[in-house]
Amino acid sequence: MTQHSATVIARANIALAKYWGKSDVALNLPAVASISVTLEPMRTETTVTFDDALAADEVSLNGKRADGKPLTRAIKVLDQVRALAKRSAHARVESSNNFPTASGLASSASGFAALVAAAWSAVDLPRDDVRWSALARQASASAARSIYGGFVELPRGVPGDAGLAAHPIAPADHWDVRVVVAVANEGPKDVGSTEGMTLSERTSPYYRAWVDSSDKLVEEVRAGILARDLTKVGEAMEQSTLAMHACMMASRPGLIYLQPATLSALATVKQLRREGVEVYATMDAGPHVKALCHARDAEKVAAALGSTPMVLRTLTAQPGGALERIS
Ligand code: PMV
Repeated sequence: MTQHSATVIARANIALAKYWGKSDVALNLPAVASISVTLEPMRTETTVTFDDALAADEVSLNGKRADGKPLTRAIKVLDQVRALAKRSAHARVESSNNFPTASGLASSASGFAALVAAAWSAVDLPRDDVRWSALARQASASAARSIYGGFVELPRGVPGDAGLAAHPIAPADHWDVRVVVAVANEGPKDVGSTEGMTLSERTSPYYRAWVDSSDKLVEEVRAGILARDLTKVGEAMEQSTLAMHACMMASRPGLIYLQPATLSALATVKQLRREGVEVYATMDAGPHVKALCHARDAEKVAAALGSTPMVLRTLTAQPGGALERIS
């Protein structure tokens, strides 16, 4: 046999307590803990085939051949798996998302989680969620969280701790919430997260304050999830989001990911709350707003956000399951 192949599905996730900043850049360790919810049906499906006949690694993303940085980052993961499995064959990676790439949901989280698990499984190593999460974290810290379903925590990293992994804190069926994504206008290309985080650490006067404030917010989000308390999670999530963006904006040069559509979607979320609908907002390193609400309010929230000026469209997600191998 010269070919070994595996296909897996991983889901995107959205942080309810945000991560921004690294305690160890070489090992890609986060300076703050984060908590996310894994999102169904935002899926990445990835097949990795190790093939002795290949002269180099080949990566295709949504049917398009990858080169440059995305290819280099994928090869780094493949090299780590090859080293563990003591193999040398090159690999063909075919990865596609079932959610639009421009939906504002980071595909790097589900993408790297799926790549690690598919490569690992293709070389016949046994399933190991903790090691998958640690390996995925080295490629993209948010990817460590997409190995697991439901509500997931990635602790802060102590410099040198190469094994840091995420862990689940509650399963997907623990809490019937929804995340309504308001897709904002596409702006110029964002500054990548690693570049942005290191810039914030070097230049933002609010970086220390952000890091110091995060522990309390993570605790509130965790306790709120366990108690199914939307007010507690929502208020802490919004503060975590806005503190992270304040830290980003005060960098030099400022990292401004918010756009007019972001602010109008935030106003809609506030207005819904005034009308008695419990809904809270978060944003990542981009302009899109993700609104957290009870399942029973999701349609109302999606309708209000969908008719908000400058919002292009909405997508609704619910807590989703862990990474799955499908062949
Ligand atoms: O893991 P990365 O490098 O994609 O960074 C993710 C950073 C945020 O999306 C802004 C926050 C988070 O915790 O997901």
